[in-house]
Amino acid sequence: MADTQWWQHAVGYQIYPRSFFDSNHDGVGDLPGILTKIDYLQSLGVDFVWLSAFYPSGNVDSGYDVTNYCDVAPQYGTLADFDRLVAAFHGAGIKLVIDLALNHTSDQHPWFQAALADPQGPYHDYYLWQPATATKQPNNWQSVFGDSAWTYVPDQQAAYLHTFAAEQPDLNWQNPAVHHEMVQIMQWWAERGVDGFRFAGVTHLKKRVDFADVTPATAYYENVADTVTLLADLKPVLTQNHLLAIGEAGGIDPRTAQRWLDPATGFFDLLLEFDHVHFWEQATPKLPVAALRATLSRWQQSLEGTGWNTLFIENHDLPRAVSYYGNDQGEYRRRSAKALGMLYLLMKGTPFIYQGQELGLPNAGFTKIADYRDLDSRRYYQRQRAAGLAEPQILSQLALQSRDNARTPMPWTHQQYGGFSDHEPWLQLAPGVTQINVERESHDPHAVLPFYQQLVRIKKSVPALRSGRYELIDTGDNQLYVYRRTLNGDNWLVVVNMSDQPATTQNFDLTTSELILTNLPVDAASDDRQIQPWEARLYHWRRLE
Ligand code: NOJ
Repeated sequence: MADTQWWQHAVGYQIYPRSFFDSNHDGVGDLPGILTKIDYLQSLGVDFVWLSAFYPSGNVDSGYDVTNYCDVAPQYGTLADFDRLVAAFHGAGIKLVIDLALNHTSDQHPWFQAALADPQGPYHDYYLWQPATATKQPNNWQSVFGDSAWTYVPDQQAAYLHTFAAEQPDLNWQNPAVHHEMVQIMQWWAERGVDGFRFAGVTHLKKRVDFADVTPATAYYENVADTVTLLADLKPVLTQNHLLAIGEAGGIDPRTAQRWLDPATGFFDLLLEFDHVHFWEQATPKLPVAALRATLSRWQQSLEGTGWNTLFIENHDLPRAVSYYGNDQGEYRRRSAKALGMLYLLMKGTPFIYQGQELGLPNAGFTKIADYRDLDSRRYYQRQRAAGLAEPQILSQLALQSRDNARTPMPWTHQQYGGFSDHEPWLQLAPGVTQINVERESHDPHAVLPFYQQLVRIKKSVPALRSGRYELIDTGDNQLYVYRRTLNGDNWLVVVNMSDQPATTQNFDLTTSELILTNLPVDAASDDRQIQPWEARLYHWRRLE
């Protein structure tokens, strides 16, 4: 695929509006708050922002249970605020991509309320219903949040499907009226000036139509068949308005991704796949470097010439990378945060930075269930308690995996509440924010923030790091991740030690290379074959042929 599209040379930044900046003193972030931070985004060098859900919602799933697709939730501001934000972003040369949940609405959405009120009416078929009784669900299908995927409605002697919470009924994508509604909604936002959409959960859209039992019980949606044909009606809106289409595509394989990314027959420009961020779920080893190398390299190689990769290590649904893959203790926190940054950002693809990642922000460190707000985490706690698990065990699992780890308010200063708000925030801040905050890191040349600024600058200014081929240099160990980017004979080498132990390199010759960026002080006398724990180096490398 030719790299001629703007987003192939762009760096994205994800904003979780609830936790970015509170301008109206209620402890919740808002759109006018984002408006005041545009210079910060510019200083990072980002080209577009992906703004997570800000729609009016039932607030069961933090905004991803929408009650009105054409408005802004009051706690985030108004449509006029949104218009001002778009204008300000565009004035600063930053494009804006917004989230769109196609798979489900809130149960409070007028469509679902109409479906409940009138089983014969047109809105009933906007959702997926199957005959059921109070004691018998239609089948064994299970929701992503862990319970049955069906909720029984006695009046209708039927149950409706919800891949997530019961308050998030799934839309029926077999119904053309649903396509039509979404087309109208997308056009409406396009006319307000948005530059694209991040389509949430697209691998969930298409379900098995036989409604048979499946194993595992969540296998009724992923990769069932070609989702992009289901989305074909939405494509003209994208094309006519030159909108970027990003798909959240958990569970997709590289071959399907190639089809979905095909400019002629596919639908998406970019896909967010999650193969490389699941290793943290396995207890030991915490980070199997060889498996990570294999996974990331598989995607890099599969999409070479046939698609374009999306690069990310954090978002609002994952724990913090420095805590799950790095080492968030002591001096290793900064070092490993920088190492992870260099590792993923300089691969081939469009990088996304999730708010706070550029500071090396660690997990939330919550110790009580009362600290958590995320529905998924709270339900996990209840289920495990009911299953008889000891509380400390559940809490330590949540401390590792909860989505609230990434949702803590953004620390701007060392002041109370990290300068995020002057009111107690909706969620506590992460530990260490008197040191880890934008103000402090902006004035500290050794902090994570300036390192990210350098990475972004280098990524955007070196053609080989934008468009060059990716080639893994397989060190065959469980510590080092080494790869090369190459374009027309121009070679760049990334060497990262992803462990707490020193490593030795044998596989490549550094004698003709120039060290461009490192996260450790450069000691000219030291042996450049010894790579310190979490050391990361970028070389401009010319191999002796
Ligand atoms: C995708 C969003 O990223 C996630 O936060 C949400 O829970 C699911 N969609 C379901 O709504």
